[in-house]
Amino acid sequence: MRGKTATAIVLVIVIVAAGALVMWFQRHGFSAREEPAWYEKTLARHARKIATPAGAKELKNPHPLTEESLPAAREHWVAHCSSCHALDGSGNTTIGRNLYPKAPDMRDMETQKLSDGELFYIISNGVRFTGMPAWGEEDSPQSIWELVGYIRRLSHLSAEEKQLLEKLSSGESGEGKPTASPPPKHTHSHASGAPPHKH
Ligand code: HEC
Repeated sequence: MRGKTATAIVLVIVIVAAGALVMWFQRHGFSAREEPAWYEKTLARHARKIATPAGAKELKNPHPLTEESLPAAREHWVAHCSSCHALDGSGNTTIGRNLYPKAPDMRDMETQKLSDGELFYIISNGVRFTGMPAWGEEDSPQSIWELVGYIRRLSHLSAEEKQLLEKLSSGESGEGKPTASPPPKHTHSHASGAPPHKH
């Protein structure tokens, strides 16, 4: 008998919750155009922190950026990341601005205070329910560690480096530019002389 009452209570709760959810979506829709509320952002950040294994957070960067690895890291950033994160890391691109949640400004403290291990984990595994893809299958661990180093540079890019980034991206789809307006091409080549290909 007690079991039946408990089942009935759970059923009522589920029906009420489903009804509330339907009403919420009727009012708010599935639109990605709104800015997530502060509590949504805080909850999402906490959930992400908890889900990152402790060992991963503490990893030290085994491939810090060097003069030799910098050009490849820069090119990698332009090719795989700047379409959403922008050349300067501001997130100010057509795609980055219109995602939900938006691509964050990675020059800010919120990103910079993440440990190297956390950045590596996020880039390798992506962030579920957001536009952030997992790159672990696509990119080598070394190239991801070098991107971690590149993210640390974003807050103090020199004018020359910004020009270099613009130059690197101008041969490509144009999506990486903060004011991406030209229609995207389907193939592009990297400055390294790799043959034109899709991403
Ligand atoms: C298709 C769009 C897209 C691409 C391409 C993309 N990102 Fe992201 N990225 C996002 C979004 C959206 C978020 C925010 C996720 C969130 O709110 O948890 C994000 C978050 C991040 C974060 C966490 C920053 C923070 O403060 O929370 C890092 C680090 C990151 N991206 C690195 C990269 C790197 C490196 C690349 C290229 C290899 C890349 N991303 C490519 C969309 C993208």
